[in-house]
Amino acid sequence: MQPLAKAEILIEALPYIKKFYGKTVVIKYGGHAMTDPELKDKVITDIVLMKYVGINPVIVHGGGPEINYWLEKTGQEFRFVNGMRVTDEKIMEIVQMVLIGKVNKEIVGLVQKNGGKAIGLSGIDGDMIKVSKKVVEKDGKKIDLGYVGEVEHVNPHLILSAIEQGHIPVIAPIGTNGNGDVYNINADYVAGSIAGALEADKLVLLTDVEGVLDQKGNLVSSLSIKEAQEFIKTGVIDGGMIPKIECCIEALLSGVKTVHIVNGRLPHAMLLEIFTHSGVGTMVVKE
Ligand SMILES: Nc1ncnc2c1ncn2[C@@H]1O[C@H](COP(=O)(O)OP(=O)(O)OP(=O)(O)O)[C@@H](O)[C@H]1O
Ligand SMILES: [Mg+2]
Repeated sequence: MQPLAKAEILIEALPYIKKFYGKTVVIKYGGHAMTDPELKDKVITDIVLMKYVGINPVIVHGGGPEINYWLEKTGQEFRFVNGMRVTDEKIMEIVQMVLIGKVNKEIVGLVQKNGGKAIGLSGIDGDMIKVSKKVVEKDGKKIDLGYVGEVEHVNPHLILSAIEQGHIPVIAPIGTNGNGDVYNINADYVAGSIAGALEADKLVLLTDVEGVLDQKGNLVSSLSIKEAQEFIKTGVIDGGMIPKIECCIEALLSGVKTVHIVNGRLPHAMLLEIFTHSGVGTMVVKE
């Protein structure tokens, strides 16, 4: 590429850099988008670049496949209801070890390897995420998911001071009920609540599909809350996409300006989303 063309690309990004300078962008990095090490490195590089041009990225991560791997390795059976893992005490132990001990620290290490500063946190630290026990209904019946939490309150104090110190906060989706019990929370809900508590400008959910797909499998580039609810009712949106959509709706209603579901397996998808005209993935909008 000619040097002049390179300069033009940088200049093209200027309006976007100006728009997001000093703003907070919460990124949910799904476990399913994390399976390829090379891609993982690219995603983290994008986030470090965002930090250096003056954006405040906050990472909330999942870790589903990694948890499955360790549950299988330790011979424990598991199942999901509405995209959420049924979590008994023994499973919770593994979930906590994998999310906080392994996945979280791995991301912190990758940020630092790429020249950024990061601090790994969970909802337990600084009493950040208070939860109640989540109750779900399936086919008219109430289902006990065990140690699965519903976010009641986010105390953003620790996140804000980490940002002030120049760190990229990396948050594992585990919270407490105030009685010393720890709960597993779907990372999408955590990302949505944190984006709300931080009054973030943008919430980006990186996953392993192009975005929301309709009944024919085509990408929906803009999805309203009403359409999303209809898709859930008719089963077009299913499994792990349900908490994602619910989180998008909650974030929009609590004042987050834009919410996107983006393919984390597409190299530099997030950079394209933030710094160019060409939007990728699904944007969820109020109307
Ligand atoms: N209408 C739909 N459009 C797109 N994906 C859908 C739809 N309905 C269900 N899905 C499923 O939702 C999945 C994404 O959610 P999933 O929980 O598996 O990943 P994640 O949240 O990115 O990772 P993790 O849960 O590990 O953090 C897709 O891979 C797809 O199988
Ligand atoms: Mg998920």
